[in-house]
Amino acid sequence: MRKFIALMIGTIFLVGAVAVISAAEVNKGAATYTIDKCKKRKQSVEFNHAKHQGLEGVTCKTCHHKVKKGETPRGCFQCHQCKKKGNIPSARTAFHRNCRGCHAKMKKAGKATGPTSCTGCHLKKK
Ligand code: HEC
Ligand code: HEC
Ligand code: HEC
Ligand code: HEC
Repeated sequence: MRKFIALMIGTIFLVGAVAVISAAEVNKGAATYTIDKCKKRKQSVEFNHAKHQGLEGVTCKTCHHKVKKGETPRGCFQCHQCKKKGNIPSARTAFHRNCRGCHAKMKKAGKATGPTSCTGCHLKKK
């Protein structure tokens, strides 16, 4: 019995340690992205991923809405194409709802946030 309890405690520690290690190894992606896969009429969008990850009240799921617990988030373009496909909205709709949607909501609430004007995100050519 004593041996069994010792084994159980050992197992619990091991599971705990593995959980801590995998939590530390979450793939956070690149610090910045240039979003330009559908660029046609508008300029590409510079996105500071790391800065957004650090925002108060923001979790990975705020943007990576389909990610499951413990899974590495996938890029938006893996599902959202330049054109709407079945029930999957276009990248333009997805990004405008997610990105501009949050900025607009915060702006309305009087908080400091990102751009809501077209050229704020689609920076003009220098
Ligand atoms: C908060 C950031 C943001 C704002 C504000 C924004 N967009 Fe976008 N928009 C994006 C992102 C990100 C994409 C996806 C870009 C890509 O994949 O090339 C996009 C895609 C597009 C596209 C499709 C791609 C292309 O180049 O044809 C169009 C058109 C577009 N936006 C127009 C607008 C217009 C017009 C406004 C202002 C009313 C606007 N956007 C405001 C972020 C923004
Ligand atoms: C404000 C929105 C936002 C938040 C919050 C966010 N991400 Fe992202 N993430 C993105 C966008 C946009 C991309 C790039 C999409 C593209 O270009 O395909 C991306 C890309 C990634 C990628 C690369 C995926 C690939 O297959 O290329 C990983 C990994 C990732 N994010 C992990 C995370 C993790 C982990 C968190 C939470 C700690 C997080 N992200 C929070 C928007 C966000
Ligand atoms: C695994 C596939 C998948 C990935 C990856 C994915 N999406 Fe989606 N997304 C969908 C589907 C499917 C829908 C349609 C509604 C639903 O099922 O939730 C959707 C809907 C949305 C909507 C709601 C649009 C509306 O009409 O209101 C937004 C916003 C959105 N996605 C943003 C993003 C962003 C930003 C990323 C990347 C950070 C992303 N999605 C990654 C599959 C995906
Ligand atoms: C949950 C709310 C939220 C979402 C979702 C979000 N943003 Fe932001 N964004 C912010 C806030 C808050 C700031 C201001 C950050 C600061 O200056 O400290 C910001 C700042 C920015 C800026 C200004 C430059 C910078 O990096 O500070 C750009 C450009 C931007 N966001 C683009 C995007 C794009 C593109 C997406 C979607 C892929 C996005 N944002 C999604 C809240 C959001």
